[in-house]
Amino acid sequence: MKDINGRTRICGLMANPVGHTLSPLIHNTLAERMNINMAYVPFEPKKNELDAAVKGAYALNILGLNVSVPHKVQVMDSLSAIDPVAAAIGAVNTLVRIEGGYQGYNTDITGLKRAMEMDGVEIKDRQVVILGAGGVAQTAAHLCAGEGAAGIWILNRTYENAVALAKKIEGFYHTKCTPFRTEDFRELPKNRYLVIQTTSVGMYPNVDHAAIEEEEFYQMVETAYDLVYTPSETMFMKYAVSCGAKAYNGLRMLLYQGICAYEIWNHTVVPEEVVEEIYALLKKELRVK
Ligand code: ATR
Repeated sequence: MKDINGRTRICGLMANPVGHTLSPLIHNTLAERMNINMAYVPFEPKKNELDAAVKGAYALNILGLNVSVPHKVQVMDSLSAIDPVAAAIGAVNTLVRIEGGYQGYNTDITGLKRAMEMDGVEIKDRQVVILGAGGVAQTAAHLCAGEGAAGIWILNRTYENAVALAKKIEGFYHTKCTPFRTEDFRELPKNRYLVIQTTSVGMYPNVDHAAIEEEEFYQMVETAYDLVYTPSETMFMKYAVSCGAKAYNGLRMLLYQGICAYEIWNHTVVPEEVVEEIYALLKKELRVK
């Protein structure tokens, strides 16, 4: 355990609930390995306390904060400035102290980008299917459109949410983005898709299910990228692998959204061997191989 002293800078996470977060492990290990006098702590403000929490954090000279469920959208009302990418996505997960308040960033998108690069998954010129149309799907869709995907299909249980997301993406980028009801997947053009799974279906403890269970769908999958990381191999990944696809989970995205926030707060670049050490620690913590 590092020493806390009069010069220790504080960062933290605001989420509710916050008890199961892995972010303190990521950031406190980073601080220790990088020899930076910073400590990272969990905070659990209620929705109606969020604005007071941000103002109080500023008054307490807190260097930076991560923001997670359910505060990523609402927190934007309490900020002094918002990075254009985070503004386009409409969600902020990282606050960076500036003169007079905090500036909001979205390191979920930069984290997902770096995670996919590390996994060797290309987006440019690919046909991409996104399963889901919620907050995480927004991030994935912005990344894919921004990185030059050839086309994006948003498949969602609730069609209206897929339509709203597709419209938003087409309003920002030139990429064609088509909404679909999940059960209509057979009408997708025959392709070998990169599929990014953003729903909570398959996440512990609901481990026996996937948002789509039919084998016909998985025959169209070339790369399956699940943003869920508990369990380490979801049903979505298992179905895809059994049809010959490559499959990845969301642990690297979790890792890299943290690395990106740490790098912004501390004006540094985390060396690859430290990133990999933390990745191993996270896997150990989740008891996965
Ligand atoms: P997040 O921020 O994690 O993306 P969210 O904004 O609540 O969470 O979005 C959850 C996504 O998972 C949505 O696309 C949701 O579909 P609906 O728009 O139809 O609600 C999807 N989802 C959640 N539970 C689901 C289930 N049991 N079956 C299919 N889709 C589900």
